[in-house]
Amino acid sequence: RQLENLFDASLRSTVPHETSVETEVTACLPGRPGDYQCNNAMGLWSIIKGKKTQFKGPPAVGQALLKNLPASEMVESELCSVAGPGFVNVILSSKWMAKSIETMLIDGIDTWAPTLPVKRAVVDFSSPNIAKEMHVGHLRPTIIGDTLARMLEYSKVEVLRRNHVGDWGTQFGMLIEYLFEKFPDTESVTETAIGDLQTFYQKSKSKFDYDPEFKEKAQKSVVRLQGGDPTYLKAWTKICDISRAEFSKIYQRLGVVLEEKGESFYNPYIPKVIEELNSKGLIEESEGARVIFLEGFSIPLIVVKSDGGFNYASTDLTALWYRLNEEKAEWIVYLTDAGQHQHFSMFFKGLGNGYMNQAARKAGWLPESDKTYPRVDHVGFGLVKRNDGKPFKTRSSKVVRLVDLLDEAKTRGKAALVERGKDKEWTPEELDQTAEAIGYGAIKYADLKNNRSTSYTFNFDQMLSDKGNTAVYLLYAHARICSIIKKSGKDIDELKKTGKLALNHPEERALGLHLLRFAETVEAACTNLLPHVLCEYLYELSERYTTFYSVHQVIGSAEEASRLLLCEATAIVMRKCFHLLGITPVYKI
Ligand code: ARG
Repeated sequence: RQLENLFDASLRSTVPHETSVETEVTACLPGRPGDYQCNNAMGLWSIIKGKKTQFKGPPAVGQALLKNLPASEMVESELCSVAGPGFVNVILSSKWMAKSIETMLIDGIDTWAPTLPVKRAVVDFSSPNIAKEMHVGHLRPTIIGDTLARMLEYSKVEVLRRNHVGDWGTQFGMLIEYLFEKFPDTESVTETAIGDLQTFYQKSKSKFDYDPEFKEKAQKSVVRLQGGDPTYLKAWTKICDISRAEFSKIYQRLGVVLEEKGESFYNPYIPKVIEELNSKGLIEESEGARVIFLEGFSIPLIVVKSDGGFNYASTDLTALWYRLNEEKAEWIVYLTDAGQHQHFSMFFKGLGNGYMNQAARKAGWLPESDKTYPRVDHVGFGLVKRNDGKPFKTRSSKVVRLVDLLDEAKTRGKAALVERGKDKEWTPEELDQTAEAIGYGAIKYADLKNNRSTSYTFNFDQMLSDKGNTAVYLLYAHARICSIIKKSGKDIDELKKTGKLALNHPEERALGLHLLRFAETVEAACTNLLPHVLCEYLYELSERYTTFYSVHQVIGSAEEASRLLLCEATAIVMRKCFHLLGITPVYKI
C-alpha cells in the first residue's frame, strides 16, 4: 500500500493530465528481478501516444515513473530497474523490511491488519434448516463463512454473523401435527424423547406423503401457526429449540460463532416490503401469484404464492431490505452452494454474476454498479465428493452426519498421536486437545485450501497426512518453530525489545519479504472472498521458513538473536493465519 502511494505520486507528476489512471503495483513472480513491480507504463502509453508527448514509447514512460518515484527509505533506488515494455521493478530495502518486522514484533500483528472501505458487514452463513440434521453439505457454508467473517473482523469491520436458519414454512405443519400425535402433552417433550430429529422429520414426512388425512391436518396446522395460534407457536418453538441445541453443539466443536436470525424473524416485515416494491411498479400478477419479471431470466421471481403465502424469495428480499435499511450493512455476503446462484442473481449482481436488472437494483436499494457500496455478494461453492467422485454419502446412501465426521477426525487425529507415543508424554487433556486441533483443523484446511468454486474430494488419509499441503504439516511446522525458540533458552519478549533483526542472506530476505506480504494477502482474500489465497500464503510461508532453516543455523550462530526474531515473526504470522482460518494452533508436537 505504501509503495502504491509512492507510485501514485510518481504517476501524477509524470503525466499530470491523466487523472483517471489508477496506479497498479503487484508482487513480482518468483525469479523476476524485483520484489514488486509497477505495471502502468504500457497502459499509460496507449493513452498518451496520440497526444503530444515527450515520451517515445512505454519503456521511456517506465523510466520516467522510476525517475519520479519520491525518495523513500523503503526502496533501494539504485537497484530498481525498468524491464521489457516498461515494467518498473522495485527492490525493497532490506533494512526497511527488517525494521518493519521489528516494529510488528513490538506493536503486535494487529497493526498489520488491512483497512477495508466498509464499517459493517453481514455474513449470512451456515444456515441449516430446522429439524434436519447438519450433514457434510453444511461443512462448506459454515467453514468458509466463518473464515470470511474472521478476516473481515481482523480488518476492523463490524460483522453481523447471521445464521439464516430455515425455521418457517410449510414443513412445520407436518412436524407440529406429528408432534401432537406422538406427544399429546407437548410441555413434557424433551430432546431425548424425540431422539434424533432427523428420523422424526422423515417419519412425519412419510406420513404426510402417504396419509391424506394427516396431510390435510398438517396444511391446516401451517395456517394456524402462521396466524399466531399460541398452541402451535409453542410446538414450533419446541421443535426449533431442540434443533438449535443440536446445531450449537456442532458450532461449539468447530469454534464457530453465529447469531441466529432465521426466516421467521423477517416474516412480519414481508408485507411492508412487498408493498414498497409494488408502489415502485415492480410487481405483477401472474397465474394468481404476485411476481417480478426480470430480463435475462426465463421465469419470474415469485414473491407471493397463488395461495397468498410467502416463500424463500419473499423472505430473502425482506432480509436484504432489513440488512440494508435497519442494520445499515455496507457489505452483505451470502454463503450457499453454487446451486442457489440463480436465486441470488435474481436479487442482485454479485461477484461474477452477469445481470444488471435484478430486483434489488430495480427497486433502487443498491447502486447501479457493483463496484460501489453497499455491496452484495453471493459466495457460491462446489460440492464435497467421495473418493470415487460421487456425492459424499454413507453406504446406505444416507448423507454423512457432520457429528460423525467430526468424531472420526478426532479419533484418527488421536490415533496418529498415540502412534508417535504422545500418550506417554502428555496428559489426557493435552492429548485430547491436540487431537481436536489436528482433526478439526485438517477438515477445515482441506476445505479452505481449494478454490471454493470447485468441488473437492474428501479424503481423511490425505488431509491427516503430515506431509504436503495439509493442516497437520503446517501445525507441526509452527510447533517446531516454537520449540526452537524455547530450546534457545532466550527470553523472546526481552529479545523483541533489545534485539536487532537483519535480513542479510537471500533466504532470510525471502522469508522476510513473504512476512511483509501478509496484509495485502488478507486484503486480497477478503475483497475477492477467496480464503484459499490465505492458505496458499501460509503454505508458502512454511516452505520459505524450511528453506531458511535448512540453510542457516539458528541456535548458537553469530546471528542467533536476529534469527530467533525471524523465527518468532514467522510463528506469529502463522498463528494469525491459523486464527483467520479457524484452526487452533498447537505448541508442542
Ligand atoms: N436454509 C437455506 C438452505 O439450507 C440456506 C439459506 C441461505 N441464506 C439465505 N439468506 N438464503 O438451503
